[in-house]
Amino acid sequence: MRFEVGGEIATITMDRPEKRNAQTFATWSALARIGRNLPGHVRVVVIRGEGPSFSAGIDLRMFTTAPGQGSFASVAALDTDALLERVTEAQQGFLWLRRPDIVSIAVVQGHAIGAGFQLALSCDLRILADDAKFCMKEPALGLVPDLTGTKPLVELVGVAKAVEICLTARTVEAEEALRLGLAERVVPRERLDEAVGELAAALLTTDRDAAAATKRLLLGAAARTLEEQSAAERAEQAVRLRTLFGGERAARGDGSAES
Ligand code: ACO
Repeated sequence: MRFEVGGEIATITMDRPEKRNAQTFATWSALARIGRNLPGHVRVVVIRGEGPSFSAGIDLRMFTTAPGQGSFASVAALDTDALLERVTEAQQGFLWLRRPDIVSIAVVQGHAIGAGFQLALSCDLRILADDAKFCMKEPALGLVPDLTGTKPLVELVGVAKAVEICLTARTVEAEEALRLGLAERVVPRERLDEAVGELAAALLTTDRDAAAATKRLLLGAAARTLEEQSAAERAEQAVRLRTLFGGERAARGDGSAES
């Protein structure tokens, strides 16, 4: 996996194209490490996959290799606490992508299957090439999607469509993904880089702190009542107003949110 920072944009590139960027526990540890060490000035995180496909999901060797080699058999042999801890660690590779101080963009060409689909779902935004294909294959393999993908999937397409997509393990192609809200934009494959560049540049035009506060509000909205959300808006705006126009109060540091 490659990690590059250019200005306020960080790019993570899965770079095992010969195995269609199949993922392992090492992939998820590497992702989590990047999240923990992300330079503070980064505002946009782009995730992409080298080669014909974004990611073919879990490395199928995990189904077959002997215990002790990062296989499912070795995870299944753990006691329950240790097993759950292992999955928790894997999920850490995905969860940081929703942090309010960044906007994450998945750039998807070709297949995004299973863990690949979930990685795309764990990002805030998705830009697709016109050959992109999503598939939640886990139920077909006897597994559940556990890499944090079920919540964003339901939020984006609703429960009924999520049930239909997951429990048939069918392929959702780019145009349908766009219609369902699984993609912000679909572009011809050769225009993918340009489209991502345009989106990243547009995201950098807004005020950093206001953008983070707005993302906090938007991410929290579904779990709050209208009254609670209104209160959260007031609290965030009080901080913004004091920061922008606060003068004495801000300087005194007594800018609690009572507006
Ligand atoms: N794990 C390990 N190796 C893989 C995987 C994978 N998930 N997917 C592809 N590869 C390897 C192939 O074995 C092949 O290796 P080889 O050249 O050494 O034989 C190479 O990548 C290229 O694969 P092709 O099938 O030739 O590539 P193509 O572009 O034609 O097809 C596709 C891509 C559709 C992704 C196909 O490879 C595929 O169906 N892979 C399996 C997908 C899958 O079931 N993933 C698990 C999902 S469940 C989950 O993630 C929890």
